[in-house]
Amino acid sequence: MTDTFDQFKPAPDANWWRQAAVYQIYPRSFADADGDGLGDIRGITAKIPYLAALGIDAVWLSPFYPSPLADGGYDVSDYRDVDPRLGTLEDFDEMVAALHAAQIKLIADIVPNHSSDQHEWFQQALAAGKGSPERERYIFRDGLGADGGKPPSDWVSHFGGSAWTRITEPSGEPGQWYLHLFAKEQPDWNWENPEIREDFLKTLRFWSDRGVDGFRVDVAHALAKDMSEPLRSKPSVADELTPVDGKDPLFDRDEVHDIYAEWRKVFNEYDPPRTAVAEAWVPASRRMAYASPEGLGQAFNFDLLRADWDVGQFRSIITNNLSQAEESGASSTWVFSNHDVVRHPSRYGLPAGLDYGPWLMADGSEPEVDQMTGLRRARAATLLMLALPGSAYLYQGEELGLFEVPDLPAATLQDPIWHRTGHQRKGRDGCRVPLPWTQEGESFGFGTNGAHLPQPAWFGGLSVEAQDGIAGSTLEFYRHALKLRGQLQSYEDLEWIGGTGGSTLHFSRPGQWQSITNFGREPLALPPGKVLISSSKLAAGQLPPDTTAWLAGSVQEG
Ligand code: GLC
Repeated sequence: MTDTFDQFKPAPDANWWRQAAVYQIYPRSFADADGDGLGDIRGITAKIPYLAALGIDAVWLSPFYPSPLADGGYDVSDYRDVDPRLGTLEDFDEMVAALHAAQIKLIADIVPNHSSDQHEWFQQALAAGKGSPERERYIFRDGLGADGGKPPSDWVSHFGGSAWTRITEPSGEPGQWYLHLFAKEQPDWNWENPEIREDFLKTLRFWSDRGVDGFRVDVAHALAKDMSEPLRSKPSVADELTPVDGKDPLFDRDEVHDIYAEWRKVFNEYDPPRTAVAEAWVPASRRMAYASPEGLGQAFNFDLLRADWDVGQFRSIITNNLSQAEESGASSTWVFSNHDVVRHPSRYGLPAGLDYGPWLMADGSEPEVDQMTGLRRARAATLLMLALPGSAYLYQGEELGLFEVPDLPAATLQDPIWHRTGHQRKGRDGCRVPLPWTQEGESFGFGTNGAHLPQPAWFGGLSVEAQDGIAGSTLEFYRHALKLRGQLQSYEDLEWIGGTGGSTLHFSRPGQWQSITNFGREPLALPPGKVLISSSKLAAGQLPPDTTAWLAGSVQEG
């Protein structure tokens, strides 16, 4: 029965996600409450006051499910539980309640393209044999060649090597092959099987019922595949797709949207509707379908993350994404760092266009990061992003100005990329090093008993403790910017001030405030208006290079 007073409660805001500042937590590297060297759920709960003081609207939690950790948790062995090393479902419920009490929403990462090879259904598929309904849950095929010893197609895995692995049949004979677009421990689900579709709807409801407010959908563009025989040749993986017609055998097929239309119905069973954001590595023109209100509702764009520190690139990316978002009915997304890429203060301190693979292999020594420039630009970029209409996605540790850790000892590397490329590419561990909370002491306050990836000595100087309350520190800068953003954001409009061709990006937002960034080499005269915040110190009336400032007031162009 409805409570008599329910009618007086404000309606839950269904649009909370449109301009949210979302903070990504990679749980194993955030905070370790039980002293096993791995971050955990209770570690997150203990840091909620920190998150609240940071001023974020939502947390996106990378996978926390039971996982053998072949791919940092993106290999899930049970979609409806918490990894025992990270806690229990009760710990999860407590975390959700505490986040909600602090007015912070929770977005859970969901991994629908593949499971772990330790998932019960994959183990059953191995045991049940060829042609069984158990094998139909995954993508098994006979191999080519007289003895079936060659993979069914030339498809390659994102992490290197063939996308097919041959199994040993229960009889002990070499047998069929299964498809895995990522590591061999990550077999791809067969989304043509209604049982898989049903099971994921069950998972979406399971977490939504527990109070999860939204989902980040991993590799959202890969679920639907054309497996008709003969399998088409596709000897390389592009991370940005060239085909734009929805007909590639593996990626961004039009049928994928039927899946998300079903998900949308589940999301809309809730009040407010659950939200979703697609991780879809597709060309901009194809992104809108994922972001439509009949689909997932929002999609990441990684355009700024991939752009050079360049005024022209930034301006066209912003313009294009805002107009695409408007067309799709979604809001835009912005992101500079996440658990898959070199942290942005390091990127901006390196030459434009650098290939980070060899740089990481040289332990970050060739060339060395210009840390001063890198951090200065990173802060300017962040302040610019926080002024844009749409959602801003932040990655844990960027509020401390953490740099990539490029020189992790080889023996400590965990990323399957390192192993699957025969130690030719290091992978992504350098942005996943556990956070420093204190200046000194055991794992810089991450936990009481070491950290699963070694932290460098310089982490102490960038720790929360070293920056808390220190004027001008990156942490205080993020807190201030997020607080102001919360006060200033209103309609999702942006008006450019000044044309293209100069070295500044200057725009105004509804409610009479402006953001201006100097990408050039020389200081510029600041336009009139009270400075609300700046990413670096301002000299009298001037905006130095690599700096963003927000100003109060509207601008009349003369
Ligand atoms: C996504 C994740 C990445 C993971 C991959 C496979 O790209 O962000 O970390 O390795 O999917 O699940």
